[in-house]
Amino acid sequence: MRLVNRQWVLRSHPHGWPEPGNWELVRTEAPSPGPGQVLLRALYLSVDPYMRGRISGRATYAPPVPLGGVMVGAAVAEVVQSDDPGFAAGDVVEHAGFGWQEYAVSDGRALRKVDPSLGPVSTALGVLGMNGLTAYFGLLDVCHPRPGETVVVSGAAGATGSIAGQIARIAGCRVVGIAGSARKVAWLTGDLGFDAAVDYKAAGDLRAALAKHCPDGIDCYFDNVGGPVTDAVLSLLALRARIAVCGQIALYNEADFAPVGPRELRYLIAKRARAEGFLVFDYGDRYGEGLARLSRWVRVGDLNYQETVYEGIDNVPQALIDMMGGENVGKMVVRVGD
Ligand SMILES: NC(=O)c1ccc[n+]([C@@H]2O[C@H](COP(=O)([O-])OP(=O)(O)OC[C@H]3O[C@@H](n4cnc5c(N)ncnc54)[C@H](OP(=O)(O)O)[C@@H]3O)[C@@H](O)[C@H]2O)c1
Repeated sequence: MRLVNRQWVLRSHPHGWPEPGNWELVRTEAPSPGPGQVLLRALYLSVDPYMRGRISGRATYAPPVPLGGVMVGAAVAEVVQSDDPGFAAGDVVEHAGFGWQEYAVSDGRALRKVDPSLGPVSTALGVLGMNGLTAYFGLLDVCHPRPGETVVVSGAAGATGSIAGQIARIAGCRVVGIAGSARKVAWLTGDLGFDAAVDYKAAGDLRAALAKHCPDGIDCYFDNVGGPVTDAVLSLLALRARIAVCGQIALYNEADFAPVGPRELRYLIAKRARAEGFLVFDYGDRYGEGLARLSRWVRVGDLNYQETVYEGIDNVPQALIDMMGGENVGKMVVRVGD
């Protein structure tokens, strides 16, 4: 029996915010696995901010998705059929290059087995996957937090920020989150153990609101968003502060690139601060270390997480758009199979 594979292909480049019409859902025949390959069926598809760069038509740190090409993206999938002795039908795996589709073939080297005893398998896309690893290496290796220091995290209620803030708490720091709603702020301080959190949309004078929670200045800043939020943070840095530039989502949907430049770098001079961009992929040879520690923290209850789950392959583009608009708490994923 031939399997039908529904795939989202890119039809046009967005100008500003994407719309679902930038993609088309097409039906094709599922691929057949060749020698040494496995056939995979998607259970959860990931939506991530980096995807905005891939549909821009311009090369970022990776090539863009061509028009007519299947949209990129990671998935958690079930092995349907295997010609690789390392994998058996029924195994659950994570595949960073799966794409927005229902079926894909792969060789085993691209796959990571998922341990369902650690929690819902979807966590392999979030806290026990790319977001957890980004938070782990960005906070510990770029920010180098010390016990007692003040750590500020922007995008703090998102997939990466919520983990970065909790790792800072585990490291013995004072943690202040910045997020975009009262509900998110309550989650950060109530469930995740942040010392304080600020709703940047309701704060009015964000600098003043942050200054109240950071009386000795900000030693580490894990930046997921850039833009005006980061402008406010930079004016409050402590001496020899460290900034991990993880993402700049406030700028990704600007139609004609950023309306303003990094105006506030002058604050780095007086404070002898250091800002460093990083990509999680640079730490590929240490993923085992990161996943082992993240898994242990989840198992013993030190690391909490939440997921926002959309249903059905029809809703994948909308999930991406809603995530960038702040509709998610924690990691946004789309369930496409049982
Ligand atoms: N360097 C790396 O290797 C790497 C790896 C993964 C992710 N990243 C980056 O990390 C950041 C977070 O990614 P994620 O996957 O964890 O997404 P996420 O935080 O789960 O979701 C994105 C969040 O960004 C916030 N946001 C959107 N527009 C904003 C704006 N103008 N100002 C402030 N906040 C805004 C929204 O929350 P609010 O409701 O709070 O506005 C939204 O929920 C992104 O910038 C991404 O590109 C980098």
